Amino acid sequence: MNRPLLAPSILSADFARLGEELAVVTASGADWVHLDVMDGHFVPNLTFGPPVIAHLRRHSQLPFDVHLMIEQPQQWLKIYREAGADRLTIHLEACRHVQRHLVEIRQLGAAAGLCLNPQTSLAGLEYLLPDCDQVLIMTVNPGFGGQSLLEPVVGKIADLRRLIDRMGLPTLIEVDGGIDATNAQRILAAGADVLVMGSAFFRTEEKPALVARIHGMTTRARRGKRHHGRSTPSA
Ligand code: DX5
Ligand code: ZN
Repeated sequence: MNRPLLAPSILSADFARLGEELAVVTASGADWVHLDVMDGHFVPNLTFGPPVIAHLRRHSQLPFDVHLMIEQPQQWLKIYREAGADRLTIHLEACRHVQRHLVEIRQLGAAAGLCLNPQTSLAGLEYLLPDCDQVLIMTVNPGFGGQSLLEPVVGKIADLRRLIDRMGLPTLIEVDGGIDATNAQRILAAGADVLVMGSAFFRTEEKPALVARIHGMTTRARRGKRHHGRSTPSA
């Protein structure tokens, strides 16, 4: 059993005080910072882009886990990497040739992530997993924080865990949407390695205690060691 990782999403932070909010995440003991990039096309909402990430980069040493909810993400990979992304996740639904783009992310020196919307099945994933450092399972329809976890998707986490273990890969399973301290253990038991937490993290005044509580939970084997920390921008 391994310690689960927690990646607070600053989507639920006070954007007028983003630097201070990032400092709070860093001080909480969390493992990564999850940054939700939305373009108003792939999802019906807009957040921030490379300049904001580049400014935030100077204020934290935590790995930046950048979730690109954008059309044509392949056009932006180098720009987000240079802005400070250590991990870059693209949506399967946004790409016609997703394997090529996963390879490009690794060539940029970042960890490559593939995200699946709630309705997207695992069909064909065995052909992509060797090029994935992480798979991000959405347990809400992306675009907004504060939504309720979609229970039927929890079964997909367990199915993916079995597939990854059967293939003997180090790919991490990250889960995003509607996660809080009450359902976290169930998601970890299904096979998640990394929990994204937006509203539940920023809602509590006791952030270090919340992080410690999640770290005290157990997850299924996290086999790989590659790409868990910060990676020095190569470009
Ligand atoms: C949703 C984002 C999530 C969001 C999660 O589109 O991808 O990362 O911040 O927020 P909560 O934890 O509130 O569901
Ligand atoms: Zn996200």
